[in-house]
Amino acid sequence: MDRTPGLSVRLKLTLSYAGFVMLAGAVLLAAGYFSLSRGVHPGVIFLVQSHAALLRYFAPIAAIVMTFLLVFGLLGGWLLSGRMLAPLTRITDATRVAADGSLSHRIELPGRQDEFRELADSFDTMLARLEAHVAEQQRFAANASHELRTPLAITQTLLDVARNDPKGANGELVDRLHFVNNRAIDLTEALLLLSRADQRSFTRERLDLSLIAEEATETLLPLAERRGLTIETSGDATPTIGSRALLLQLSTNLVHNAIIHNLPERGTVRIATSAHPKGAVLTVENTGEKLTPQLVATLADPFQRGTVRIRTDDAGVGLGLAIVKSITEAHDGTLTLNPRDAGGLRVTVQLPAAPPARLQPPAP
Ligand SMILES: Nc1ncnc2c1ncn2[C@@H]1O[C@H](COP(=O)(O)OP(=O)(O)O)[C@@H](O)[C@H]1O
Ligand SMILES: [Mg+2]
Repeated sequence: MDRTPGLSVRLKLTLSYAGFVMLAGAVLLAAGYFSLSRGVHPGVIFLVQSHAALLRYFAPIAAIVMTFLLVFGLLGGWLLSGRMLAPLTRITDATRVAADGSLSHRIELPGRQDEFRELADSFDTMLARLEAHVAEQQRFAANASHELRTPLAITQTLLDVARNDPKGANGELVDRLHFVNNRAIDLTEALLLLSRADQRSFTRERLDLSLIAEEATETLLPLAERRGLTIETSGDATPTIGSRALLLQLSTNLVHNAIIHNLPERGTVRIATSAHPKGAVLTVENTGEKLTPQLVATLADPFQRGTVRIRTDDAGVGLGLAIVKSITEAHDGTLTLNPRDAGGLRVTVQLPAAPPARLQPPAP
């Protein structure tokens, strides 16, 4: 931004400091002069006998004092304001370095707590946050590219095989190509969904979370049956505000995980919704392998998979919980993952409660 050049703050402070010193000096001199001049009358005699003589005597002294004060004020003001503003120079330098793209630099202003220290500390905190955020984005982009490259590379290999052996291009090859391509589509769709939730650009409506959880469960019922799982649902009306499509996706991801990452046989999935004064809560619990708290803490990170064991048919793309987290946060809610003592996971999503119904416009 181009601005008209102005006086530096240091110069302004110096001039005001000198100005105040001179003003104080002038007031003192005036007071001295008037108290002396009251003594000028016959009878009470100091050194002079008339006002004119007093002025002649007083003026040179006043001039010397004022000159001294001017020099003292300018010099002292310049030095003092320089010291006062030194931290500002440091802060400005740091912002320049950050603006050039280096987010690792910190001001680390020494000294006691004051206004400059507060500014510098908040600036350092902001830089640390930005740096972590950018690093996370870069890691995400690298992981996403890597994950997308895998199905493309497999496709390439399969196509090469088919080209070298045209008779080998049979049904099996087409099936595998179809499967790999499907995974690439799933992954791309998950990525799109994630960015959509992150942008928070969706319309919010009044919903019943229990109905949404029920819908997700019903869709996944055949999958649960194929795996011999028992599904228990419970919960009354649980009003909340949000995007129907995104909350359905959230519920589907949670129930899907609870089914897929369950025991190989006789597992259980429990889905419950409840309305609290503080908010609407969805809990999805399932039996399964024992999980450590350390592992559970990382599960919602993108492309984080708990176990290396891959079941090819229903294996997810590793974004399920990342999507749940981002949808929850976009709804100003909180996601909590807890390992169950007996094995398996308990996922709790808490969303803000819907305001009382009469505050809403009547339904058309
Ligand atoms: N309900 C669950 N029970 C046990 N483990 C789970 C559950 N949900 C998720 N996980 C673990 O968290 C990992 C990440 O889950 P997710 O982000 O949905 O990716 P994906 O299901 O595609 O592997 C899973 O690989 C699994 O190890
Ligand atoms: Mg999943």
